[in-house]
Amino acid sequence: MSDAAEEVKVAPTMPAMVLPPGLEGVAVAETSIGDVRGEHGFFHYRGYDAVELARTCSFEQVWYLLTEGELPDREQTRRFREETAQLRRLPEEVAKLLPAIAAIEPFAPLDALRTAVSLTASALGLRPVMDISAEEIRLQAVRMTALVPVMLMGLYRAHQGQEPVPADPELGYAAAYLQMLTGEHPHEKHARAVEKYLILTMDHGFNASTFTARVIISTGADLGSALVGAIGALSGPMHGGAPSRALQTLDEIGTEDRAYEYLRRRVASGQRLMGFGHRIYKTDDPRSTLLREVALELGGEQAQFAQQVERIALKVLNELKPGRRLYTNVEYYAGVVMNTAGIPGDLFTPTFASSRMVGWTAAICEQAAHNRLIRPSAVYVGPSPPRPLPDGYGYS
Ligand code: ACO
Repeated sequence: MSDAAEEVKVAPTMPAMVLPPGLEGVAVAETSIGDVRGEHGFFHYRGYDAVELARTCSFEQVWYLLTEGELPDREQTRRFREETAQLRRLPEEVAKLLPAIAAIEPFAPLDALRTAVSLTASALGLRPVMDISAEEIRLQAVRMTALVPVMLMGLYRAHQGQEPVPADPELGYAAAYLQMLTGEHPHEKHARAVEKYLILTMDHGFNASTFTARVIISTGADLGSALVGAIGALSGPMHGGAPSRALQTLDEIGTEDRAYEYLRRRVASGQRLMGFGHRIYKTDDPRSTLLREVALELGGEQAQFAQQVERIALKVLNELKPGRRLYTNVEYYAGVVMNTAGIPGDLFTPTFASSRMVGWTAAICEQAAHNRLIRPSAVYVGPSPPRPLPDGYGYS
């Protein structure tokens, strides 16, 4: 050991407190956007029951609520709908690049969207939030939210060798979402089912992707960087990457008589059942309750089958994971609803990202308005410092 290393004594800086793994139950900020009451199976947006909003409001009304803080009146709704419909035009240079992004194999729409969001942010010249006004951040937030479906459907169609379909300005967000995908005006019941799903998934407390967006914005970075980070966080199966896997499970099970054996084997071998369990909900996830209803209203064999398998899955979880309080989460019926409405499986998580843009951007505006750099500590558990370098060790 060198003399210098012997002399230096570096006492560890004691953190103010050590928090539970995964920050479970820890409040890290104040927010007036919304919150989740896990024990009561309830969540809200700015105080309004989110399930009631999904049942009764349009996408634009709830988007406005989350962005502006209050529900719009009739005239404000009309103007916001018009404003956001006009924003569905990509910068020329990004539109030109979509086919090149979509040509990258294997094609993963969420990855492609993440890339397009980054490009669009650059093309629009989004500057660090530290250097711009709250009104400018709000305008960027609304514009990027309006543009995400345009990017996504442009990418998806380009990968199929098809031209993009410009959104019909007469259509609201949800109907235009489906129209830009297929080129056809959607059936009203499909548009409304998708709209309910989109409203239900706009925001959900301090989830991992929202927290990610806030951490990035807290550094003063631009809105595009925060959205790219949020999409990355959402992509994981423990967050937003589950609905296509839940539907895949249904396909693999095939028939009801195979469900018990299949699901038991999965859980017994340490795998997780996709679409079940939640960090916050220790009772029914209210989103899954409404989506089950929407799926059954849409009709079809898949919804019936999903319901049969759900009952068996809950029985299996109760038998093999007693006391863990595992219930159906939002992702289980999300896939069934989207599939029935004509959204392909590889667009499930990107669709979730599209609606969550509303929550992310609301959180970004809130963070920028009351900012303090988010910079926690960790408890160092490695070898004691300072370690001497091995004898003779040096540049080579
Ligand atoms: N299937 C089987 N077992 C489960 C499941 C599941 N879906 N979820 C949790 N468990 C078990 C765990 O194995 C663990 O068991 P153990 O005590 O024997 O070790 C126990 O329940 C607690 O699990 P944790 O991982 O501590 O719970 P956490 O709160 O961290 O996890 C999560 C929540 C990640 C959502 C988890 O339930 C899961 O992985 N579910 C499946 C994936 C999924 O559906 N994701 C979408 C979530 S909804 C959303 O984010 C939009």
